[in-house]
Amino acid sequence: MAIVPKVRDGLSPYAGSILQPGTDHEEVRLVLDEDSGLEAIIAVHSTVRGPAFGGCRYWAYPSRDAALTDALRLSEGMTLKNALADLPFGGGKAVMLRKPTQGDCGKLFRTFGRAVKSFDGKYITAEDVGTTVADMAQVRQSTKHVSGLSRDGQFGGNPSPMTAFGVFVGIRAAVSRLLKRAHLNGAIIAVQGLGSVGWELCQRLRAAGAELIVADIDDGRVQAAVTHFGATAVSPKEILSAKVDVLAPCALGAVLNRSSVERVRAQIVVGAANNQLAALADGDLLHKRGVFYVPDFLVNAGGIISVAREMLGETSEQAVLDEVAQIEGRAHELIDRVKATGRPPARVADEWARSKVHR
Ligand code: NAI
Repeated sequence: MAIVPKVRDGLSPYAGSILQPGTDHEEVRLVLDEDSGLEAIIAVHSTVRGPAFGGCRYWAYPSRDAALTDALRLSEGMTLKNALADLPFGGGKAVMLRKPTQGDCGKLFRTFGRAVKSFDGKYITAEDVGTTVADMAQVRQSTKHVSGLSRDGQFGGNPSPMTAFGVFVGIRAAVSRLLKRAHLNGAIIAVQGLGSVGWELCQRLRAAGAELIVADIDDGRVQAAVTHFGATAVSPKEILSAKVDVLAPCALGAVLNRSSVERVRAQIVVGAANNQLAALADGDLLHKRGVFYVPDFLVNAGGIISVAREMLGETSEQAVLDEVAQIEGRAHELIDRVKATGRPPARVADEWARSKVHR
């Protein structure tokens, strides 16, 4: 990893650009600050449609290179997601490396906010895995280029419920078209990951009458889902090969890879997790095996629609719900395009999104 040290905005010892030969990212910066303990990578993939918008992940990465890979993949995914959702934003993402011990978290996020500020509006941040509305409130003390904040009595804050709603309507579209079922009542759906989005999704699916199979590495969450939703628990390893109508990956990325794709027995895969495919070729394999994969960046846009509209001053929750509901139509359009061409949905969606990235 080549680093060009460049002191910016008082961050120490430096906030430098990382040169990334072989990727088409506009800018990637490594931010290190000894005082607060911050180690972060901010990746701006594209500002063609507008400022790069995408959340901040706070995660215990095994190495800085692993964090960089995640930042590059996630930020590119945001470009596709924002374009397909017709948002006036490009794609970016930040990752912060979680350390075994961290002192003052408020200071950590305020320092991260200074790093965001140093982009002068070219990058806007919000919540992602491991970050909360309270963390974003700390970021807000340093920069106005942050969203997902609670606004008294008004729409805003935690984007997860909107993400879950978008995934839910995506599942509804896929089940009605591909399985010819008019409703979700009795459909068997496996949810991997019962965090903010997975849990909300289970609520909606259960209310619609679906039978749930669930897995999480956190046993407490699994037990809660069994009690709350009458769900059947399986191990995190088993869930990918569960024989179900729909598999909804709602944990972390790259779960659909060379070794796991062969084991998928669901008819349809639709979930919230970003970058579910380790590579586009894994989407080809799913297609060959007759599994219809609805890409994450098409169905999980509810959260970014939420924080984007909040940033742009929208105050009506209903207006945002209506916009997120359009994901259902986009899922239908994807199915139409796949039926018309016979090509793998992952490739069709990728090309569709990229065709929208122009000034
Ligand atoms: P979260 O951190 O609240 O939940 C993730 C859950 O997955 C946790 O309960 C965790 O224990 C579980 N998990 C981790 N590894 C697992 C494994 N191997 N097997 C089973 N469970 C496992 O995260 P959140 O916010 O619910 O996000 C879930 C996914 O959706 C992430 O990939 C995120 O990037 C994506 N996403 C989230 C959005 C949001 O609005 N929160 C927006 C768009 C995408």
